[in-house]
Amino acid sequence: MGRTLIRGGTVVSSTGRSEADVLIDGEKIVAVLAPGSAIFGFDVAASADTVIDATGKYVIPGGIDAHTHMELPFGGTAASDTFETGTRAAAWGGTTTIIDFAVQSYGQRVFDGLATWHDKAAGNCAIDYGFHQIIGDLNTDSLQAMDGLLAEGVSSFKLFMAYPGVFYSDDAQILRAMQKSAETGLMTMMHAENGPAIDVLVGQLLAEGKTDPYYHGIARAWQLEEEATHRAIMLADLTGAPLYVVHVSAKQAVAQLAAARSRGKNVFGETCPQYLYLSLEENLGAPGFEGAKWVCSTPLRSRAEGHQEELWQSLRTNELQLVSTDHCPFCMKGQKDLGLGDFSKIPNGIGSVEHRLDLLYQGVVEGRITLERWVELTSTTPARMFGLYGTKGVIQPGADADVVLYDPAGHTSIGLGKTHHMNMDHAAWEGYEIDGHVDTVLSRGKVIVDGNSYLGAKGDGRYLPRGLSQYLI
Ligand code: URP
Ligand code: ZN
Ligand code: ZN
Repeated sequence: MGRTLIRGGTVVSSTGRSEADVLIDGEKIVAVLAPGSAIFGFDVAASADTVIDATGKYVIPGGIDAHTHMELPFGGTAASDTFETGTRAAAWGGTTTIIDFAVQSYGQRVFDGLATWHDKAAGNCAIDYGFHQIIGDLNTDSLQAMDGLLAEGVSSFKLFMAYPGVFYSDDAQILRAMQKSAETGLMTMMHAENGPAIDVLVGQLLAEGKTDPYYHGIARAWQLEEEATHRAIMLADLTGAPLYVVHVSAKQAVAQLAAARSRGKNVFGETCPQYLYLSLEENLGAPGFEGAKWVCSTPLRSRAEGHQEELWQSLRTNELQLVSTDHCPFCMKGQKDLGLGDFSKIPNGIGSVEHRLDLLYQGVVEGRITLERWVELTSTTPARMFGLYGTKGVIQPGADADVVLYDPAGHTSIGLGKTHHMNMDHAAWEGYEIDGHVDTVLSRGKVIVDGNSYLGAKGDGRYLPRGLSQYLI
């Protein structure tokens, strides 16, 4: 790998931008220099093994997607991207780190679930990866196991207020887990939807013959997201647990998070590109069974109710702190079609891991967020939130050389046969046009994407043990 100089670009961080050259030695960034610098008379460019011309490009820290589900067994099938295909697609889109969710299934021990995830990922990833732990069976043994998670580099766990009979935890279980979270500093991540109430509505809608994908969004009403978000916040308040609410889609849930944050609580929230762009009416409500492509939970919300606009605003005002994908792809044929005639049997999830940087960059183009906020939402905050900052999420000496050259003069057409490398038979983002392009991607100093060529390899990615959230004192 040797020494690489990225020369002539605009380095963008969460706090500003400047014309600068980035010097990489092996896997690490060793200097960020004024353009064309000679250090003590030493010609940096002449001593580099490789010089990458970044003229006209933004030079940003590699994206960190803090919420993915590669190979997740779910809804009678499994997410269609493996760690190999999913991380390669992520790399194409400028994401150089994922944090995936290891699963403890019902009846399984926590560390057996974690070991299974290590087996799935090891030697297969194109980019670096870490794990959160799903606690799907919260019992005395699981609570004890949680004491050992940090030593394994897992500093966060996810609970579900939804999906009774699968991953669901009741309030008593949540309370106990949050007590553990307060004690250990592990971040409690919450899927905040009232699952038992949703199941009643699902049964009633199906009994009325309302079986289309659209009714997935009706059953999972925003009131049930707001209520669960509020309940999670209050349980976190009582126990002192740090709380991170995943895949927030309802503007009312954002208001709950904002209110808790204004009271000084350690409460955080993410949203996902699908909730910023897509809607109940246009997508879940597409003709026939088409809407199945966009069945995910929490669901897409009504545009008429204005959720999408409020979510964009909450990203600007830091009511929500970051954007992950919740990448959980399923093909239409053989997977989503399990729910033909019964929306509740459609596997939940959308594939987006490749497009997060592009989709959010379009928000910069359209004046919704600044360039710096784009970097913050997609890289710097995920790193800080999940204990990776310094190594990841920033271009500075000592950091891993995960660097993306983003071309604001380029263009990306998303869709099958255009830009789409995920293992899916459809593109949830078909037809989206982006006024920018991921040009070059380096992962720990190695160029893995160069224009339209993929130069990486299966097994390039390493496991990333994580520390506690760097937002907590
Ligand atoms: O629809 C979704 N979100 N599928 C993945 C599982 C989850 O709840 O995150
Ligand atoms: Zn979830
Ligand atoms: Zn998820």
